Amino acid sequence: MKNIISIKDLSTAEIDEIMRGAENMQKIIANPFLLKKMNSPLKPKVTLFFTEPSTRTRGSFSEAARRLNFDRYEISGAEATSLSKKESLADTVRMFASKNQGADILAIRTNTEGTPRFTMEILDKMNCDTAVINAGDGMNQHPTQALLDLFTISKYFERKNIPDLTIGFMGDLAYSRVAHSDLLLFRLLGVKKIRLVSVPEAKIQTKYKDGFTEIIENEDIKTLSDCDIIIALRVQEERYADPVKRETIKGKFRITPENINLFKKEAIIMHPLPNPVNQGEIYPLLYNYDNGPKVIAHGQAANGIPVRMQILWQSYQERCLKNDYQNISTVTPEKIREESAKVCLEKQKNKKMEFFRPIDPETGAGMIIDHLPLGQGSIVQSLLEKTLGDDILPIHTIKGVSSSKYGKKDVVIIENNCSVLKNNDLLATISLKYGERTTLHLVKDKMYRKFKLNPPTRIKKLLACPNPNCVTRHEPEAVTCFYNTFPNLGIVECAYCEREFPSEDLQPI
Ligand code: CP
Repeated sequence: MKNIISIKDLSTAEIDEIMRGAENMQKIIANPFLLKKMNSPLKPKVTLFFTEPSTRTRGSFSEAARRLNFDRYEISGAEATSLSKKESLADTVRMFASKNQGADILAIRTNTEGTPRFTMEILDKMNCDTAVINAGDGMNQHPTQALLDLFTISKYFERKNIPDLTIGFMGDLAYSRVAHSDLLLFRLLGVKKIRLVSVPEAKIQTKYKDGFTEIIENEDIKTLSDCDIIIALRVQEERYADPVKRETIKGKFRITPENINLFKKEAIIMHPLPNPVNQGEIYPLLYNYDNGPKVIAHGQAANGIPVRMQILWQSYQERCLKNDYQNISTVTPEKIREESAKVCLEKQKNKKMEFFRPIDPETGAGMIIDHLPLGQGSIVQSLLEKTLGDDILPIHTIKGVSSSKYGKKDVVIIENNCSVLKNNDLLATISLKYGERTTLHLVKDKMYRKFKLNPPTRIKKLLACPNPNCVTRHEPEAVTCFYNTFPNLGIVECAYCEREFPSEDLQPI
């Protein structure tokens, strides 16, 4: 484990290693002389780059670094950097990681989803060993918070019993990166029973419910009465564009002296904090409540130090590891027919398939993209022109061709070039948008070949992420990437902001 970008990248073995390491770090906090025994390296450098406010995460990363005897450099607010002079984030982080001046570890908090993953890739491209830690990216992820939450839970429940716990979430689940990271972590650890209490406007996205077998989801705080752990979450006011919607959610779910005894006496009540004054989720006088469920939010926050000490330590030890991720579009065109071009095109002429005519079967090399939905041909043509430039000229779209299967279809003809078949980004894009029906016809080297497109697994570069707050919408060097997580449902996930979208919502850049 070099970088910590998202809980979804971690294995249970890696999580257990962090938990064991954090226990050790707790011993070092109690007895700093133990650090010497760990063969402490010479002053590694940690940069904390926070463009969103933070009390706990920045404070505990800073304290964790200090206790490890690491050098630390803290930058708070974009206005403290040349981002405020319209420098790109890519150039900014290159500088933070540059030779001699740069950091060994860069912990980054930002309101733009996907920034930590983009940062990791930018540093990889410059062959830089700097480890990247996500300290919270917009509404996406807060993985170190989830890890300190687990460390906190392990103080009350044995690890082997965690899968049998009932865990409840309350508040703004749609915009809470803590809820998102915690749920991914609990699913990985085998938790089955979850309770989700929120107003409909702040419901959790479907993907975070996947894998749990007993889910109760509603607007009734009493639903949390069988929970062993209750995690209360702040309304993320800053992420609501619509102030009316925001006001309907604020103060809706609160744990107060009147309702705290609804919950199991042995339950623990967690909150990542901040717990806002007046309309916070936990009535502040309950911080010291000792006649029922325990509110452990402050102890939880304090656990950030040993957990983040371990994360910094491990990231530094493993900083030279190369990141192992695939970075190309993946799609497999499947050949379904092959024969002599001359013979084949003779047959096509008999069927009056006139669009084959410009391609000479003896000397030509061209292709036809067939069975595109009516009206989509010109979109595909412009995608090809933008991607391949003059190489694919001449190119034409024939609209509204009769089709026995689809009624009407569009057909795109490239007269002199078959390079689309070698361009995985194009093939994956066409396959995602129209795959099931699209066929490719090629004429080359006197042969005719017909292909169908199987669903792509990764689609890069040519389609925009619909999330306006995704890093790929802001950084000129960011190349989009989607995973075709549920080909049968037509749902894709952005590799950066980790949001899911119907594939029909993805439009060419
Ligand atoms: N829990 C948490 O992330 O708090 P801060 O925003 O204060 O860092």
